[in-house]
Amino acid sequence: MTTSQNTPQSHDPKIIVALDYADSASALKLVAQLDPALCRLKVGKELFTSAGPQFVESLARSNFGVFLDLKFHDIPNTVAKACSAASNLGVWMLNVHASGGMEMMQAAKQAVDTSASKPLLIAVTVLTSMNQQTLNQIGIQTDIATHVLNLATLTQQAGLDGVVCSALEAEILRTKLGNDFCLVTPGIRPANVNKDDQSRVVTPADALNMGSSYLVIGRPITQAANPLKALEAIHAECVS
Ligand code: C5P
Repeated sequence: MTTSQNTPQSHDPKIIVALDYADSASALKLVAQLDPALCRLKVGKELFTSAGPQFVESLARSNFGVFLDLKFHDIPNTVAKACSAASNLGVWMLNVHASGGMEMMQAAKQAVDTSASKPLLIAVTVLTSMNQQTLNQIGIQTDIATHVLNLATLTQQAGLDGVVCSALEAEILRTKLGNDFCLVTPGIRPANVNKDDQSRVVTPADALNMGSSYLVIGRPITQAANPLKALEAIHAECVS
């Protein structure tokens, strides 16, 4: 598996906790309860927009690796500049939309690779909020599974490190794209917990067996009465 040169841990925790919070104080309250030996952290658009780049930079300086989930999608030059700026925050991983195309992804990859920290760069293929009908509405007639595979293949050809995908897609992507391609999968629910608004969920152990490299997990940890215990239980489920 490709690993970033700025990975702050000598080990490689598979769990990425989604910090889906409106402000830095709420996020930091959760982070203080977690163990960097067992997880990394994901900062998305809401928290980034409210808490700002300095917050991300300080989080990245702690022992946690940070996945900056901003899904850049713009002209190649703009995305490359955004990726440089994100890399300079010291994050472990960042992402773009594969539908931005080959040239955009190559520009992003070059920007990341010429940064001092060289984070992992992955791409979103088809958002899981989309279905065949919404894909057709934007003029794409290809069936959704084929479109995901096409975009993931393009991502690999552009030299990126991997994609975000459903664990249910991981098996075929792992087979087609090989063992060195990083598959980051949300929609994970430990056995016996609330599915929340996720409909197609997979347990942590099953997701890893299906080829996932990293598991994005939010509410089963962030909303738990004891987040550290929840994290430890999921970690144990992964290594058993
Ligand atoms: O709370 P939960 O575990 O459902 O959170 C999952 C995280 O992964 C959230 O940050 C959500 O935005 C993100 N995500 C997702 N499904 C996708 C892509 C990202 O749930 N297809």
